[in-house]
Amino acid sequence: MVHLGVNIDHVATVRQARRTDEPDPVWAAAEAELGGADGITFHLREDRRHICDRDARLLKETVATKLNMEMAIAKEIVDIACDLQPDQCSLVPERREELTTEGGLDVVRHRRDVGAAVDRLRERGIVVSAFIEPIAEQIRAAAEVGCAAVELWTGGYAHARTPDEVAASLEALRGGISVGQECGLVVHGGHGLTYRNVSTVATMAGFAEFNIGHSIVSRAVFTGMRAAVAEMKSLLERYQPQES
Ligand code: PXP
Repeated sequence: MVHLGVNIDHVATVRQARRTDEPDPVWAAAEAELGGADGITFHLREDRRHICDRDARLLKETVATKLNMEMAIAKEIVDIACDLQPDQCSLVPERREELTTEGGLDVVRHRRDVGAAVDRLRERGIVVSAFIEPIAEQIRAAAEVGCAAVELWTGGYAHARTPDEVAASLEALRGGISVGQECGLVVHGGHGLTYRNVSTVATMAGFAEFNIGHSIVSRAVFTGMRAAVAEMKSLLERYQPQES
């Protein structure tokens, strides 16, 4: 079954709203694991707007499943990742003015810098994934610079408003999965997935992992993290790809 990586950044966003010590994203990660998360994802941003260095250190010590660090390819952050050695690093674009990661990393344009970051992370035994749009040349470039996985940006699907837009976004994801598999990459998906829209992508064959944050943390405000994660897991179980 597809694995669920739970992104706990927004628990830290609430904490940072008051610069206090609650709610603790490290506690949220443990609760997410008790709810059935297959992995915990966090993004250590250069501006430390939510997750901070202390969280990253404690997550590394306490997460019992798979720890996935989202990160820019900036030298300071690559240094931290090499030191921390999470199970996986997902390379993302990062702009200070954005609310969240918008769109994918342009691996074609930044091939040399991405390749250098991938080399350093791989030397430390870290599996590297690139968060990219479902575009064939980006996927091929990710494979060429040494990524083992790609996380296809599902925002195109999540933001689609008309049936034509939905169909086009799903077609792009299908194409992306097949190019990824041809290149020998493990294919993940993420961004904008919710309890309402996840079923359609969950039934597509080829995704090994979804990373979901905002919707799960939002639900957790009302139900608690453990129940929110269990509910998403049960949707993924109900809407599995059909065997062909
Ligand atoms: N995957 C990546 C690479 C992301 O940057 C994010 C947002 O932090 C997510 C998945 C999760 O997106 P969302 O919060 O919309 O579920």
